[in-house]
Amino acid sequence: MRKIVIHSPGNHQKLCLETHPDLMPNPGEVVVETRAAGVNYADVCVRWGVYESAKRLVGWPITPGFEFSGVVSKLGSGVERFKIGDPVFGVTFFNGYSSQVCVLEKQLYPLPSKFNFDEAAGFPAVFLTAYHALFQLVRLPESASILVHSAGGGVGSAILQLARARGLMATGVVGSSHKVEYVRSLGAEHVIDKSKEDLWKVVKQIRPDGFDAVLDANGPETFSGSYEALRPTGKLIAYGSHGILPQSHSGRMNYLKAAMGLLRMPKFDPLKLITDNKSLIGFNLSFLFDRDDLLTEGFRDLQKMVEQGLLKPPKVTPFAISEAHEAHRLIESGGSTGKIVLRF
Ligand SMILES: NC(=O)c1ccc[n+]([C@@H]2O[C@H](COP(=O)([O-])OP(=O)(O)OC[C@H]3O[C@@H](n4cnc5c(N)ncnc54)[C@H](OP(=O)(O)O)[C@@H]3O)[C@@H](O)[C@H]2O)c1
Repeated sequence: MRKIVIHSPGNHQKLCLETHPDLMPNPGEVVVETRAAGVNYADVCVRWGVYESAKRLVGWPITPGFEFSGVVSKLGSGVERFKIGDPVFGVTFFNGYSSQVCVLEKQLYPLPSKFNFDEAAGFPAVFLTAYHALFQLVRLPESASILVHSAGGGVGSAILQLARARGLMATGVVGSSHKVEYVRSLGAEHVIDKSKEDLWKVVKQIRPDGFDAVLDANGPETFSGSYEALRPTGKLIAYGSHGILPQSHSGRMNYLKAAMGLLRMPKFDPLKLITDNKSLIGFNLSFLFDRDDLLTEGFRDLQKMVEQGLLKPPKVTPFAISEAHEAHRLIESGGSTGKIVLRF
């Protein structure tokens, strides 16, 4: 089997396509011949050596990738839900950029009839993230207002789709004009193009009394403004800090930019949260991989919404596995919309 292996942190050239022995399942495990693997911004952070769960729980070498689709090729003893040849998709704690993936049965689901392999591979990570943020961490009433940063990206576009499915009123923020129509097509009530408009002025015009929730993975560039944009009882849901990371074509980490970003990170005072009646919530799903309750609930509910036609497959840009460096270059550029997948 072939897989991408990163032996040490660095630029795109660190993504090495290597040949390794075929995988054999242990009891309860399933081997899948991968057709496609989803690319997430987190994979770039893994390559740079700045992704906390990869550093703490795996180390080097590492194969990135949290999600995949494919066909069941080997079954460990005791596996009951699948047979050889079944088309499936699922999640994996790293190792997704691989022509074979071996996971526990509970990490796999039948391929939705409405999705092709590319679309299914790009679905789990961003939709489970969006689901956790919107439905497992907070309880937002129907027609609650949400502000979604990076709304044209993978997680952002999944948040917009879930918001539309559950009757939330979403305002999407994008960093470049070519994303505006795409974000509108996902059901955003308003779209703010911060490359052309004064973000916080328009935010105030749209919701003078503030939003019920703001979903923000930018970091110090927007965390404070997002907090200010909340109404009392509002929640700032912080789930990343890509703004402190580089956007250069070279793919090199910029430690100075990251250090400056960390220095600019706002500090939140619990007493002020109390008097403002606002909440700050943070999460990172990669540290919650053993929480079967969250994963099972999210997957089941999302699958139901797909079957009911409430969610469209993600818009996908595919690359061959040998072009993994180009896929990383694209997501690092900040210019991509929807999802990127690698094909085998
Ligand atoms: N906490 C969790 O469990 C969890 C899970 C999944 C993802 N995430 C985080 O969610 C964010 C989105 O992930 P994704 O995989 O869906 O990526 P993505 O949204 O497809 O791409 C990132 C987006 O962020 C914006 N951006 C701003 N500064 C950037 C920079 N320096 N470099 C690159 N992009 C920049 C760009 O949109 P605009 O310019 O239009 O704003 C870009 O489209 C990431 O920060 C990721 O780490 C967190």
